[in-house]
Amino acid sequence: MPGTCVVGLQWGDEAKGKIVDLLGDKFDFVVRYNGGANAGHTVVANGKTFKLSLLPTGVIRPNVRSVIGNGVVIYPPRFLEEVGQLRAGGIELSGSLVLSDHAHVIFPYHMEEERLAESGAEGKIGTTGRGIGPCYQDKVGRRFGIRVGELLHPAHLRDRLRYVVPFKNRLMAAFANGHASALKPLDPEAISDEYLGYAESIRPYVTDTSRLLQDAFRDGKRVLFEAAQGSLLDVDHGTYPYVTSSSSLPSGIWGGAGVPAKNIQRIIGVVKAYTTRVGKGPFPTELDDGPEGLGERIRKIGREYGTVTGRPRRVGWFDAVAVRYTAALAGADEITVMLLDVLSGLPELNLCTAYDIDNERTTHFPSDSFQLERCRPIYETIPGWREDITAARTLSDLPTAARQYLDRIEELVGLRVTVVSVGPDRVQTILV
Ligand code: IMP
Repeated sequence: MPGTCVVGLQWGDEAKGKIVDLLGDKFDFVVRYNGGANAGHTVVANGKTFKLSLLPTGVIRPNVRSVIGNGVVIYPPRFLEEVGQLRAGGIELSGSLVLSDHAHVIFPYHMEEERLAESGAEGKIGTTGRGIGPCYQDKVGRRFGIRVGELLHPAHLRDRLRYVVPFKNRLMAAFANGHASALKPLDPEAISDEYLGYAESIRPYVTDTSRLLQDAFRDGKRVLFEAAQGSLLDVDHGTYPYVTSSSSLPSGIWGGAGVPAKNIQRIIGVVKAYTTRVGKGPFPTELDDGPEGLGERIRKIGREYGTVTGRPRRVGWFDAVAVRYTAALAGADEITVMLLDVLSGLPELNLCTAYDIDNERTTHFPSDSFQLERCRPIYETIPGWREDITAARTLSDLPTAARQYLDRIEELVGLRVTVVSVGPDRVQTILV
């Protein structure tokens, strides 16, 4: 049975959760393979609204097992808080949620390292402040990384933290020197006590998730992988260094869930009908046109504020150069276009079809930030539509201009549009 991946093809926040929701009960497993509590999604179940960052969006589905793979970084209090939030709302996850013993753990010094790094005058990434980058740094650096499985062995954990924390204290003192408030040194024993407390609550969820998933594929189970963040934030292929620290493309599944790529047979690329980005970094089609401008209008109508940090998202036109690039890297089979209704009422719409870089036209996406900074968008302008489209349920319910807009996105990206979302509600969807 096929594995399916739902992946955002822009800079995140493409409304992937709605696509996962629409796929509904077609899956036995939902899996997260990258990122951590830097993601944010709002899910509605039992008539209640839950704000989740770490658990997969599919977690609320009955009869679905949720897996947090080894490629995810875990902040234990956040994990327990989300599990508790769902339990208080009548959703019991014990038995249905599992957490990889190989996932790396975020400690207070990771958050502090990030705060210090981001408070410097230079070198800011505009991160979510959740300790994601420093935790992944320790993972690949190997000396200081601590995995979920290690939390379950008290003497071992204490030993590890007695080694790691004094080093981190020295590192943070050096980091703080001159550009940020000095930190009170952290105490390894206090951190051990705190994390051993979490460990007892986490223990029932911990398992070897790669084996679980390999068995699932062998038994013909249907498995859905949810990418966190967007492909342009992928650490290798995104707009480096303004990216996250994990592999958000489907290529991250093999490493981040222990599932060979040959098991993934359908890749659904999710895009917004326009583009948004949170944090720093180049954004060629950005509408940076002031409080009365189109950018602000789209931000307000689309409620474009970060779920995790509340920061206003940067807003711009649809960038077909960027999406063609990520669709190819992701191996997307189809695209779903979200938030089309947000563009209603604009007299004209711009689609970026190429870039001008130093007076040369290119349709190639230079993902290095220093090169992308120099790109100016080349637009094709097409007519907008005035009608409210939130009640459209088929393509023929859409105004001609909206259909032309979708057709042009299909042509430019080179993939069929299979779903169009015209509002936040599940029914506000056109299945093409
Ligand atoms: P980090 O993942 O917290 O290290 O942040 C690195 C960059 O990725 C920043 O620009 C963040 O705003 C961005 N980012 C991280 N997670 C998300 C997300 O879920 N949606 C959109 N942007 C994100």
